[in-house]
Amino acid sequence: MQVKDNTFLITGAASGLGAATAERLVAGGGRVVLCDLSDAVEAHAETLGERARAVRGDVTSGDDIQAAVDAAVELSEGRGLAGVVHCAGVVSVAKLVDREGNPADLDAYARTLQINLVGTFNVMRLAAAAMAKNAAGEDGERGVIINTASIAAFDGQVGQCAYSASKAGVVGMSLPAARELSRHGIRVMAIAPGVFETPMMSEIPDEAAQALAASVPFPKRLGKPDEFARLAEQIVTNPMLNGETIRLDGGIRMQ
Ligand SMILES: NC(=O)c1ccc[n+]([C@@H]2O[C@H](COP(=O)([O-])OP(=O)(O)OC[C@H]3O[C@@H](n4cnc5c(N)ncnc54)[C@H](O)[C@@H]3O)[C@@H](O)[C@H]2O)c1
Repeated sequence: MQVKDNTFLITGAASGLGAATAERLVAGGGRVVLCDLSDAVEAHAETLGERARAVRGDVTSGDDIQAAVDAAVELSEGRGLAGVVHCAGVVSVAKLVDREGNPADLDAYARTLQINLVGTFNVMRLAAAAMAKNAAGEDGERGVIINTASIAAFDGQVGQCAYSASKAGVVGMSLPAARELSRHGIRVMAIAPGVFETPMMSEIPDEAAQALAASVPFPKRLGKPDEFARLAEQIVTNPMLNGETIRLDGGIRMQ
C-alpha cells in the first residue's frame, strides 16, 4: 500500500513515536488523523497542515475511537481509512511486593492493562470494521494495522509486570488478528521498540539513560522517533509484512 493519498489514523500522536509517524506519513503525501488524550495534539496537527486533523480521544473509549475513525474516513474523501499506527500507551513501574512488604496496587495494574492492551484491541476492532468496507487495492489489500509493543514484552525488568504483560499481549494478538483479518485483506503488525528518545523516556535520570544507551550493541545511543516512523512507513508499503512483531532496538537485550 502506498502512503501518498491514503489516510491513516495515528494514536498517541501528540508526542514521541506517534508524533514522528504522523510527520513522516504527511511528508510522504498521506493524510492523517492524529488522536491523543493530550490537547497538544491540536497544535501538532496544525503544524502538519491541511492534510492533518486532530481528534482528542482516549484509546480505551469506544465512542472516542469511533469518532477518530469517522474523522479519518471523512478526511479520505471516499477512499476510506487505509492504515492505523497505534502508538498511545503508558509506562508503569511497581513491584509485586514493595520494600515495606506491601503488595502492589491492583487498580494500578489493571489501569496499565486497560490502556496498553484493551486500548489496542479497541483501536484494532473499530479500525478493522471501517477498513473492511474499503475497495480492495493491489493483491486485494484493504488496510494495515501497526501496533506498538516493546522489548519489555520479551525482556521485562523488575517492576514491569504490568507493562511487560500489556506489551506481551500486544505481541500475542498480532498473529490471530492477522489470520482473522486476512479474509478482508487487512494486515496486522507490531513494532517492539527498544529505548527511544521520547518524553516517555525523559523521566529516566540522565545517568540511567546514558547507561541504557551504552548497553545498545550498535548504534550506541537511544533510538530516534523518526527511526520508528521509518519502520512504520516500510510496513505500510511492504505487503509481505504481516502477523509479526519486529524488534527495533539496535540489538539491545535487557538483562
Ligand atoms: N520511548 C520508548 O523508549 C518506548 C520503548 C518501547 C515501547 N514504547 C511504546 O511506544 C508507544 C509510544 O510511546 P512514546 O515513547 O512515544 O511515549 P510518549 O509519552 O511520548 O507518547 C505517548 C502518547 O500517548 C498518549 N496517551 C496515553 N494514554 C492515552 C490514552 N488512553 N488515549 C489516548 N492517548 C493516550 C499520551 O498523551 C502521549 O501523547 C507507547 O505505547 C510505549 O509504550 C516506547
